[in-house]
Amino acid sequence: MTQPSRSDALASRTRLDQLPLKDSLVGSAPYGAPQLHVTNQLNTNENPYPPSPALVADLAESVTELATDLNRYPERDCVELRRALADYITAQTGVGVTAANLWAANGSNEVLQQLLQAFAGPGRKALGFTPSYSMHPILSAGTDTEFVTCPRDHKDGFRINPATAVAAINDHQPAVVFVTTPNNPTGCVTDRDTLTAILDAAPGIVIVDEAYQEFASTESAVALIEQYPAKLVVSRTMSKAFDYAGGRLGYFVAAPAFVEAVMLVRLPYHLSALSQAAALAALRHSGDTLATVATLAAERERVREALLAMGYTVAPSQANFLFFGPFADNADIWKRFLDRDVLIRDVGVDGWLRTTIGLPRENDALLAAAGAIAAEIGLENTGN
Ligand SMILES: Cc1ncc(COP(=O)(O)O)c(C=O)c1O
Repeated sequence: MTQPSRSDALASRTRLDQLPLKDSLVGSAPYGAPQLHVTNQLNTNENPYPPSPALVADLAESVTELATDLNRYPERDCVELRRALADYITAQTGVGVTAANLWAANGSNEVLQQLLQAFAGPGRKALGFTPSYSMHPILSAGTDTEFVTCPRDHKDGFRINPATAVAAINDHQPAVVFVTTPNNPTGCVTDRDTLTAILDAAPGIVIVDEAYQEFASTESAVALIEQYPAKLVVSRTMSKAFDYAGGRLGYFVAAPAFVEAVMLVRLPYHLSALSQAAALAALRHSGDTLATVATLAAERERVREALLAMGYTVAPSQANFLFFGPFADNADIWKRFLDRDVLIRDVGVDGWLRTTIGLPRENDALLAAAGAIAAEIGLENTGN
């Protein structure tokens, strides 16, 4: 067989700035947590425990069973999966919900994108409390939504100050408000009073992003849906506590009208038959999987105490990660961890870096590196 010849046009690297990109994307950067192969990967807030052998066997069996039907499109509205998610949310939050309150997509990022497609767009604003999850502005840019920010209180563990929040909402009149709780990257939670102040002030919808809620000891915002049915959407994911980042399954809980709204913008058959079957298998084993949550929360406290004793400042966290500092030069400190085979995350907040809580041995490696770096940069060891 002769090798097809490649044209220069295909082989040459056309630069992005030579393309007629829409104005709102010019100068933006893609989401990009580095995917490096390092022994201790503590940079993307995954659950470090692999799925149980029972889950793997169940998943393989489900996939084999449906493989003979792959010539057909999947169940478009994912009703069985939404029913299983509703059962999980009812059990986890104590708030009775049904499939009509649930919507699922390929990761909570897709859920958030669908919500922005339906409720935001040109001429509308989305407001976020920063620092927070970097995808909220990126998804806003992708839907031509102006993203505006209200700073969190750096001196109060990066909490949202309710008065500042209400003033920012009154000022910007955003169509969408994002509240991430526990917040990524800082780990702090937003209490019920602050949430209701935000909900009362918001002229549009409020998306409470609860990607890390299983790690928190506080009440889920799902409890507030009954009070704010036309405003509140709670987004969740199976990527964190559920050990299921590779499976790509996110969902939201809200009044049924929100499900009708996203059905107007979702792609037909957006969740493949394989994705639906795999998520159902993962949900059948949620007891085993979620047993790792308590272990991770206990490890988080152990690591936090140790970092504090070394002289670091550590933000209070109810998630599976810690935000710590102070650092004069983030990039330099990030590299010092990497040189010790520990990959953590620089999210672009001056003076602070984020580490995921991993397996005990990975956390030990992080602490060994942190101890050595503390000595190098002259942090005061409090020893307690
Ligand atoms: C706050 C927050 N929301 C949503 C997501 C996205 O999760 P998913 O994997 O479900 O798209 C993440 C992932 O890191 C996150 O930190």
